Amino acid sequence: MSQPYDSTRPRMTTTAGAPIASNQNSETAGPRGPLLMQDYQLLEKLAHQNRERIPERVVHAKGWGAFGTFTVTNDITQYSCASIFAQVGKTTEMLARFSTVAGEQGAADHERDVRGFALKFYTDEGNWDVVGNNTPVFFVRDPLKFPDFIHTQKRHPRTNLRSATAMWDFWGQQPESLHQVTILMSDRGLPQDPTFMNGYGSHTYSFWNKDGERFWVKFHFKTQQGHRFYTNGEAAEIIGHTREGYQEALFGKIERGEHPRWKMFVQVMPELDAEKTPYDPFDLTKVWPHGDYPLIEVGEFALNRNADNYFAQIEQAAFSPSNKVRGIGYSPDKMLQARVFSYADAHRYRLGTHYEHLPVNAAKCPVHHYHKDGQMNFFGHQTGTADAYYEPNSFGGPVEDPSFAEPPLKISGLAGRHPHQQQIDDYAQPRALHDIVLTAEERARLYRNIAAAMEGADEAVLERALVHFDRISPAYGAGIRAARAEMSQRHVEAAE
Ligand code: NDP
Ligand code: HEM
Repeated sequence: MSQPYDSTRPRMTTTAGAPIASNQNSETAGPRGPLLMQDYQLLEKLAHQNRERIPERVVHAKGWGAFGTFTVTNDITQYSCASIFAQVGKTTEMLARFSTVAGEQGAADHERDVRGFALKFYTDEGNWDVVGNNTPVFFVRDPLKFPDFIHTQKRHPRTNLRSATAMWDFWGQQPESLHQVTILMSDRGLPQDPTFMNGYGSHTYSFWNKDGERFWVKFHFKTQQGHRFYTNGEAAEIIGHTREGYQEALFGKIERGEHPRWKMFVQVMPELDAEKTPYDPFDLTKVWPHGDYPLIEVGEFALNRNADNYFAQIEQAAFSPSNKVRGIGYSPDKMLQARVFSYADAHRYRLGTHYEHLPVNAAKCPVHHYHKDGQMNFFGHQTGTADAYYEPNSFGGPVEDPSFAEPPLKISGLAGRHPHQQQIDDYAQPRALHDIVLTAEERARLYRNIAAAMEGADEAVLERALVHFDRISPAYGAGIRAARAEMSQRHVEAAE
């Protein structure tokens, strides 16, 4: 027996708007069935269910996000004419999504992994995305190696398990990886929740000012909550209770009004300095030492609003390094240049051609372009008039504005596949981190974490990797070996 309609509530309809009389009983020939083919409402419900999933991100599939507000606290207009930085006190709405890299959408939050730190600033001159990580460097410096690296982090094709052998096989042959591996295996590789970690743009980008002067720039977002981490053991215990610890923490804090904050800083390098630094300033496996290029404060953001619908606003969020605005540009970093292609391509596959028009991705300033038609085009003419569907036109359609042009960049060099592993000191920076930055206790935990990550890997592969740790610092290699010996001893004792 159906309940009478409760007129205080919205009337349920089909997707075409026709009111539905019953959402409890299928249409059948008699009470015992069978079904009638004409029960379109049932067919539609089942068909929709079959289409509820979209491809997860090929990397960074598990994520947690929220909306926030960015405020300028220091004048950097001598470096950039980006409208977001136009005056102290100016605010811009934004979205942040944090993520792990390797795990699938259902993976546990408290796994040791690099964390993604993706920001979308809805500026009044278009969306600016900083798609960074919680680490200032990366595992590889040539994008040709990125898919290989990711394969080592994902499941083995036969065992369908992650493979320690694959990871150390790759890292042991790519010594430039070990800077990032050191950070990943340090305390910072397992933050307690996303509010307790820094973000870094990682790549070198560029700024240009109203006079057309160019500067190279690195972005830093420093947590105002402090750094807090878990050990592997503590994380295992948490995962035993919940796989969703980051979602619970981030969502819960914002719901309670405890809005997490990050301060934004930049390191700025005058354009011509790039020819003088002892390291390649466009090499993503290297930082710019703070002593050479100190942090300059820019602003602060607070995350103050949870998404109303996780799928619509966080899963469908499309961050891309190709989203840049006047006053901010790329650099010769080849990893960055590959990412300019890769993300928008991933979004077209994962979300569809017109993903930029989804509400979470849509710019909050006027958008006018001549892209046309295509699947799911729900926005009509973006040119203002039906007659202006090509350019140039005589019907008042949108036109370019040369005042937005980036100053030209001088480049030179022989086209070729230049070996990226020759004559580069890949050991000095991880050495500074190991020998100078980390305390004795932090180093001890680093050795134990590496020993744990090596468990089960092929011994010959590990020996090749350990040689590189010796080259970073003899104490580093020795520390890992000692931690491995201690771990095997514990296994022997546990087995007795
Ligand atoms: P500094 O002493 O000026 O900076 C050291 C940096 O190390 C600080 O930014 C600190 O971040 C960060 N740090 C502390 N603990 C860890 C950790 N467990 N994992 C990663 N970073 C950590 O020295 P330099 O600028 O000369 O850099 C020395 C080394 O520090 C580099 O080779 C690099 O490995 C590392 N580093 C450098 C950064 C840079 O941009 N220059 C950024 C991050 C790391 P915080 O201040 O937020 O606590
Ligand atoms: C996500 C490719 C390097 C940070 C992704 C995605 C792809 C990708 C295809 C999924 C995008 C989506 O479906 O929405 C690449 C390639 C790289 C590279 C080809 C190197 C050539 C990096 C680096 C960083 C980074 C160096 C950080 C500095 C991220 C983050 C996400 C992501 C944070 C998740 C964004 C989100 O929250 O939606 N990457 N990536 N990636 N990548 Fe990369």
